[in-house]
Amino acid sequence: MSALSIRNLWKEYGDQIVLENVSIEIESRAFVALVGPSGCGKSTFLRLLLGQEGQTRGEILLDGVPLPREPGPDRGVVFQRYSVFPHLTVLGNVMFGKELQGSRRAARLFGAARHTVEEEARAMIAAVGLSGSEAKYPAQLSGGMQQRLALAQALIMRPKVLLLDEPFGALDPGIRTEIHVLMKKLWHEAPMTVVMVTHDMREAFTLATRVVAFERPRDRPEERLRYGATITRDITIWPPRQAGQASIFRPDRDGPVASQGQ
Ligand SMILES: Nc1ncnc2c1ncn2[C@@H]1O[C@H](COP(=O)(O)OP(=O)(O)OP(=O)(O)O)[C@@H](O)[C@H]1O
Ligand SMILES: [Mg+2]
Repeated sequence: MSALSIRNLWKEYGDQIVLENVSIEIESRAFVALVGPSGCGKSTFLRLLLGQEGQTRGEILLDGVPLPREPGPDRGVVFQRYSVFPHLTVLGNVMFGKELQGSRRAARLFGAARHTVEEEARAMIAAVGLSGSEAKYPAQLSGGMQQRLALAQALIMRPKVLLLDEPFGALDPGIRTEIHVLMKKLWHEAPMTVVMVTHDMREAFTLATRVVAFERPRDRPEERLRYGATITRDITIWPPRQAGQASIFRPDRDGPVASQGQ
């Protein structure tokens, strides 16, 4: 399970109200695409889900339990850039989270424990299509490869919720299409709920089960600080997509079988 309940959520920075009374139930295994104008609070919302920041008011529950106000391994995140560590190799980046978890003080594992994590990391690297690049550093990878790496780094922790903040926004269209195929495959295979911010409507409708729009209902300049954004639209994709299942309408395009091996 990995259902999120967001109830009457408010976020203020000083005098500025950014999010105003946001409520949404996100079912387990959903893939929610979050869209909305620049500055309306999408990244802020994601940071609240991550636990990187606390809300001013309201509740965020994961499987009925209030989220701790700090990031934890049950929530993974990938940003548009800079999610990976430049001084670690591909293998080092993917192993890092596990090393930190396994050995809090030294962030290094030894012996059999290290071997197990390394095997797992290599499998994850293969799953995102980066086999052969294990010893490379991020600067030696293309943008698309770096985002594959960032996905592997997040997914090896087996998060219940994967948070994506415009992860593919900086990629060229061709590369973006390739990584969409990968993203679908990962979502079908890993038992996680995904919340992705995007500016690209096509991307939203290609990947999501549900497209949610944030907007400031009152957006005159003098109103901007006093009124925050809230959910103005919530569209369930049709034909419906379900994690782990091929769509009966477009099994060639939507489903775990069609995307295997890509
Ligand atoms: N740490 C902060 N301190 C003060 N104000 C902040 C902080 N973070 C965000 N804001 C403000 O909150 C508002 C929403 O910012 P946010 O980055 O969440 O928007 P966004 O929807 O992600 O925009 P974009 O689409 O451009 O990425 C902005 O007005 C921003 O200035
Ligand atoms: Mg943003």
